[in-house]
Amino acid sequence: MKKKTILDLYKMKETGEKAVWMTAYDSCFASYAEKAGMDMILVGDSMGMIVYGYEGTIPVTMDMSINHCQAVRRGAPNTYIIGDMPFGSYHESVEDAVRNAVRFMKEGDVDAIKLEGGVAVADKIKAISQAGIVVFGHVGLTPQSSASMGGFKAQGRTTDSARNVIKDAIAVYEAGARVVLLEGVPEEVCSFVHKILPIPVYGIGAGADTDGQVLVIGDALGMFEAFTPKFSKKYAEIAKIATEGFTEYIKEVREGSFPAPEHKYKISGDIKDFEKL
Ligand code: KIV
Ligand code: NA
Repeated sequence: MKKKTILDLYKMKETGEKAVWMTAYDSCFASYAEKAGMDMILVGDSMGMIVYGYEGTIPVTMDMSINHCQAVRRGAPNTYIIGDMPFGSYHESVEDAVRNAVRFMKEGDVDAIKLEGGVAVADKIKAISQAGIVVFGHVGLTPQSSASMGGFKAQGRTTDSARNVIKDAIAVYEAGARVVLLEGVPEEVCSFVHKILPIPVYGIGAGADTDGQVLVIGDALGMFEAFTPKFSKKYAEIAKIATEGFTEYIKEVREGSFPAPEHKYKISGDIKDFEKL
């Protein structure tokens, strides 16, 4: 399959074909996603929890993100890949934001970058977009600001909060983002944004009235056992399968049934007599 471009995403919106994406952080899982026909892969800063075992996304750095983008690209050479700008990589200045977005493009070999926030980061979105980089906005529940939200909490559930989410989505669009992702908001809020914005509106925990959906691989494939958000769904049981595999391997080595004859190399006749070597 040919790698998608931003124009394909717009065409899919026009024809009502849902775009489906998931996060991945390594080459193996990226290759499975590509094989399955995933439209896009997000190298999310959720790697902080899923790959690195941190409690949140704050410790993720540019270097970590770039390394994982490269790994995902090697596994999925023909898939649209989005690099997720980590906390601190676009907060201090517009110059920082552009420099780090450029690093994602040059070193990470991604097709687009994503960053969190609306009104507050509009100047950064504008500058990155003007550098010719496709920006995915991300509003609503924004995990990088979970400290100021008091945790991973759904947004837009009151009139004031809904108004803020909508304002953020509009700000992201007006700043030049080509796509907006809404996370953790009531379906009605997302539905309204979907109705008023001309760009693709994707959701995670934002209901079904979207141009597509994204899920975090740790939740969706049953890898991450610490907690599962209400809005996710488990499509596989990787943790269970992996633990069973480990258990079986341990048992077989201990009881002597692995390695079996079919796992052993054969020696050629003339070097069988080790006494003579
Ligand atoms: O990092 C991530 O996995 C994300 C998703 C929640 C969209 O940003
Ligand atoms: Na993220």
